Amino acid sequence: MSQASHIPVMLGEVLHALEPRDGALFIDGTFGAGGYSRGILSAAACKLIGIDRDPSVQPAATQLVQASGGRFSFAEAPFSAMAEILAARGIDHVDGIVLDIGVSSMQIDQAERGFSFMRKGPLDMRMAASGPTAADAVNRLKESELADIFYVYGEERRSRRIAKFICSARAEAKIETTDRLADIVTRATGGKHSKIHPATKVFQALRIFVNDELGELARALEAAEQLLAPLGRLVVVTFHSLEDRMVKTFLRSRAGLAGGGGSRYEPAVEAGPAPSFSLLTRRAVAASDAEAADNPRARSAKLRAAIRTEAPAWSDSPELHTSIVSLARLEAAL
Ligand SMILES: C[S@@+](CC[C@H](N)C(=O)[O-])C[C@H]1O[C@@H](n2cnc3c(N)ncnc32)[C@H](O)[C@@H]1O
Repeated sequence: MSQASHIPVMLGEVLHALEPRDGALFIDGTFGAGGYSRGILSAAACKLIGIDRDPSVQPAATQLVQASGGRFSFAEAPFSAMAEILAARGIDHVDGIVLDIGVSSMQIDQAERGFSFMRKGPLDMRMAASGPTAADAVNRLKESELADIFYVYGEERRSRRIAKFICSARAEAKIETTDRLADIVTRATGGKHSKIHPATKVFQALRIFVNDELGELARALEAAEQLLAPLGRLVVVTFHSLEDRMVKTFLRSRAGLAGGGGSRYEPAVEAGPAPSFSLLTRRAVAASDAEAADNPRARSAKLRAAIRTEAPAWSDSPELHTSIVSLARLEAAL
């Protein structure tokens, strides 16, 4: 994997929000090609733990471990396991956590990973090396479950019709490749009518489902609240409205602010635990026009950041995300 193949998004803004300082310890929960990790290690004489669940990032991570003079270590794991990763190192607090949610350019570009309808390959889409694939989902789930996944995770209005087409196609032969699925969705939606490929939302929805992306984010936000030391910083970059909404809702509620709005006159929520975060960004920060022009991935990026207060982590955490279809049940059925 080439390190140059993924351009880090909003790196300057991330470093500004994270404020790396000498002697501090940070987590980069989405190592990818290591763009953020290298930026953090260059910004201060700090230490950093990188996490990624994709085994293919290992060579880049190993290279950075060797070059870092003991300041960087790496764990191949989901970022929701950050508490366990720290516990295994005898650490219970960190000074900053950054998450750059979503897929990397390397993952999209490798046809054999099956993330892209533009590249013919097996219908896989897993970031990690285990668990059900997108082919398992489209061939095994009920029509209504597929429709729900497309509707909720893909915001696809034609979800029921697409699910119906998939179920008739799979009755003839298993759907095993990206191009066959893209073709079925294109037929279900009546062909290409806009600049956006008709299979875009279905592929995105399957990717979110197969990788339990919303469940991972919900668990990571709660873990971050437990693990950040007072004045520690949480910085999250998202590329999907459902993820941004989850980060926004979590941070605003933990900051003691009522939902919605964003007005500076907005009252704090009266009852409830003491705020465990104070917001660094009242509104999501977007990439600059220049970055968005240079890097199409940056166009949908949204950054939110907050500082941990001294208050205890909230214990009565409302369910941030309830999965609409159980990935564990699909796995058990395989
Ligand atoms: C957008 S890329 C990160 C790029 C990185 N910031 C850089 O500058 O090179 C996202 C990475 O996060 C990883 N990832 C996504 N969700 C994850 C999760 N729940 N746990 C661990 N890694 C995850 C993906 O495998 C991918 O390598």
